[in-house]
Amino acid sequence: METLSADDHTAYHVNAKVFNGNMEKHEIKEYYSKWAHQYEKDLAPGRYNGPTMAAETCAHCFNEDYRENVRVLDVAAGTGAVGEQLIKKGFSDIHALDPSEGMLEVAKSKNVYTKFLNEYLTEEKLPVPDGYYNCVTSSGGMGDGHIPCEALYEIIRIVKSGGCVVIVMREEYIYNVPEYKDRLEPLMDQLEAQGKWTRMERRVVPNYAFKKSGLIFVYKVQ
Ligand SMILES: C[S@@+](CC[C@H](N)C(=O)[O-])C[C@H]1O[C@@H](n2cnc3c(N)ncnc32)[C@H](O)[C@@H]1O
Repeated sequence: METLSADDHTAYHVNAKVFNGNMEKHEIKEYYSKWAHQYEKDLAPGRYNGPTMAAETCAHCFNEDYRENVRVLDVAAGTGAVGEQLIKKGFSDIHALDPSEGMLEVAKSKNVYTKFLNEYLTEEKLPVPDGYYNCVTSSGGMGDGHIPCEALYEIIRIVKSGGCVVIVMREEYIYNVPEYKDRLEPLMDQLEAQGKWTRMERRVVPNYAFKKSGLIFVYKVQ
């Protein structure tokens, strides 16, 4: 933290408040809706690099000349930062899922998504047919009070066989968020052992957010 500027510190604390595990689900959603118009100033590229990392990783999964045929769901899409990066990589059929109306309002203004789902991703069934997406990605959607472990079942259900899942998150959350500690990766492994998906990549990356490292998971759904 000593290498962060004063502005970085302010943004860090605004962000930390919603990830500190002290908020109910509905409070988290309301917090984001109130934050929506300042969110991208606080989490600008440089301070938060998850959206670029997610889009670059999705791009590695699909050849450039095929990307416009790829139906992508951006889970926890927020204000649409991932969508903007995906468009730059040649994806064009991108759907956004997020429970916060305020965040989605900003995302809508960007004209990068072809569909919006104002929903939480949990273990509950989404209004999405089985195998509907070629790719599901999320950046910044994993954290205390955010996407629960059991949501992996639903992600796998809505991705086509051969499709790709790209999850980008803060590395430390896997060790210090009670929901994920000793649960998230064992569940990922268990789903692989059950033949539901195959791990293509698990990569620790520097400078994901606030100079902290990130973790990128890439899975191919079977
Ligand atoms: C840190 S923001 C990330 C937004 C965007 N992906 C980005 O990289 O800028 C986290 C987002 O997760 C959403 N969220 C929280 N819980 C969620 C859940 N269970 N399912 C889907 N989205 C959720 C919030 O509404 C918020 O927009």
